[in-house]
Amino acid sequence: MRKKMIAGNWKMNMTPSKAKELVTLLEPSIDIPDVDVVLCVPAIDIMPVTDIVKGTNIKVGAENMYYEEKGAYTGELSAEMLTDAGVSYVILGHSERRQYFHEDDAIINKKIKKALEHNITPIACCGETLGQRECNVTLNVIRKQIQEMFEGIDAFDAADCIIAYEPIWAIGTGKVATAEQAQEVCHSIREVMKDLYDNITADKVRVLYGGSMNEGNALSLLTQPDIDGGLIGGASLKMEFAKIVGSAHTNVAV
Ligand code: 13P
Repeated sequence: MRKKMIAGNWKMNMTPSKAKELVTLLEPSIDIPDVDVVLCVPAIDIMPVTDIVKGTNIKVGAENMYYEEKGAYTGELSAEMLTDAGVSYVILGHSERRQYFHEDDAIINKKIKKALEHNITPIACCGETLGQRECNVTLNVIRKQIQEMFEGIDAFDAADCIIAYEPIWAIGTGKVATAEQAQEVCHSIREVMKDLYDNITADKVRVLYGGSMNEGNALSLLTQPDIDGGLIGGASLKMEFAKIVGSAHTNVAV
């Protein structure tokens, strides 16, 4: 039985002062032991947020990380810096990083390997554009992304990674994938993991859906057999996030 996970991706929002206010308000309602709740926050918010959630079940994640160990890489953050600051998850390969910062699957692969080396759990993102969906190549696109992101990673490590399916056309647009569309792709991600590794790995890996998930649509998505949680953008910046966590909790209880 895979444990449900609800992760917020704050993107480039929330000053440290605002971050403290929001997490202080959210904390009592999102500290739930049977759901893994992760707040992936801008680098400057990591330490203040870590301080607030200390002693709870809530974990802190980063939104990016560099693949080198350390050195002359102005502006970048290393895995060691993140773990020392209290980070246990990192979002890698988000479509916004692919689009605006030209990250490709080979770069993401190096980042995943470095995160694993430092015991940070990668949340590796994949997803198709609207054009690709309309051309019926979604499953091919996803397969290629997963194959390249997981190149050279063994089954033991792969099973511990989180994969987030985020159709690009659903991100920040209010256009959510239907539960059937999201389930179809999340299921096929598990099939790809079965082909690349084995049944045990495919069964263990957690697959999240992301893209305009909100309190209204969360339950129908979270009750799909291959959707193990959500990666939430806009709705993670509000109290609505607690409602989404609540939907995952209800789903566990059922
Ligand atoms: P929205 O929930 O704002 O659509 O963003 C999804 C996302 O990109 C999470 O990583």
